[in-house]
Amino acid sequence: MSKEKFVGVKGMNDMLPQDAAIWHYVQDKAIGVLERYGFQEIRTPILENTKVFTRGVGEVTDIVEKEMYSFVDSMNGDQLTMRPEGTSAVVRAVNEHNLLYGTTQRVWYMGPMFRHERPQRGRYRQFYQLGVEALGMAGPDIDAELIIMLARLWKELGIEARLELNTLGALEERQAHREALITYFEAHKELLDEDAQRRLYTNPLRILDTKNPDMQELVENAPRLLDFLGEQSRAFLARLEELLTAAGISYTINPRLVRGLDYYNHTVFEWITDKLGAQGTICGGGRYDPLLEMLGGRPAPGVGFAMGLERVIELMREYGNVPQATQTDVYVIHHGKDSQVQAMQLAESMRDNGVRVIVHPGESSIKSQMKKADASGAMFVVFATEGELARNQVGVKALRRMENVRMPFAQQTLVPVARVATAVTHALQAIVGK
Ligand code: HAM
Repeated sequence: MSKEKFVGVKGMNDMLPQDAAIWHYVQDKAIGVLERYGFQEIRTPILENTKVFTRGVGEVTDIVEKEMYSFVDSMNGDQLTMRPEGTSAVVRAVNEHNLLYGTTQRVWYMGPMFRHERPQRGRYRQFYQLGVEALGMAGPDIDAELIIMLARLWKELGIEARLELNTLGALEERQAHREALITYFEAHKELLDEDAQRRLYTNPLRILDTKNPDMQELVENAPRLLDFLGEQSRAFLARLEELLTAAGISYTINPRLVRGLDYYNHTVFEWITDKLGAQGTICGGGRYDPLLEMLGGRPAPGVGFAMGLERVIELMREYGNVPQATQTDVYVIHHGKDSQVQAMQLAESMRDNGVRVIVHPGESSIKSQMKKADASGAMFVVFATEGELARNQVGVKALRRMENVRMPFAQQTLVPVARVATAVTHALQAIVGK
């Protein structure tokens, strides 16, 4: 037999059982907040036709140029891509199912996204996004509401991040800015690195995003989009700022924030932390009014965001904010003739009462079962031993004094002694009554 031990695909992570509690905690909190703002879930497939992303995200973006997992479906020759992001896929679905006829949509989605990036802390090839898209609403009030909603979520999760904001203006303004950028960078061509040279005529805006220290001064002095904005775009940003200020949300305007996807106009924003090293952006989003039409739909405005769940969870750990959950309320020990059958019946009856029960698997000494019970994290041990059962009773022992038990974060995990006792009583009655 081969001794090869298999490992997962590079940059793609397993979520192990010990991490399930924190993932569920974050998801439940987030969904709870989103529902309070009227959002409903939408699920789209992992695979889309490649064009959804080349058109949506943009041909000259890192994602489309270098990071997509694309392949030809050998069954029919279709060109498919594993979604690198959710927005284009959601807009495809909204267009396809005519979800915007005479109405608006507020949707959220959660699931794995795929980008063939160089893996490092906080940057993976499969990662989870929780995203939101608000469709059919044109005003800055909805942009503000999304940001206010995120501020509420960070507060509920006990984490902090700073908000950076920018506007990309309207299409014509961007075009004028783009021409000014090209003229400016052409005049300093010798200072451009290879990436920037390549982008000069295709996507000069992205040059502003460069991390190259040698180009920082050049980029600092480049023409600013803010100076090309018309009255409408200025008013849009001013109103957004007014609403955020009224809500007590602090932010900085970062004129260099351009985002890595082409579909944005007007508002763009990111929430950033310094606690996670280089990959400190926990959430990014913005307005994308051109996208619905770009993907073949009727023109309609849209705005949204997505957060990287791995990063949010990592940040919670940095804040020492790791909820402890118990997975088991009761561990049932059995010993002696027929006791296993009765232990299993007892457990079923307790489960009828909502108690989470493990019955000791197999047979072993009471001492070794006690060790397993302790390791299981259960709050109570129930002794369904031959001796106890002969007297129509079971023993119940609290393994941890209640005040020592970490306060579980989900209400249903708190099992008071009385509830377990009732469940055990009911269970006993059921067995004895037979
Ligand atoms: P994005 O900025 O590409 O935007 O991704 C959103 C978030 O996903 C990032 O802020 C980051 O937290 C997380 N993320 C991105 N790439 C990785 C990676 N390789 N590993 C781990 N986490 C990652 C979008 O995807 C847009 N669709 C957001 C949006 C929704 N805009 C409007 N609506």
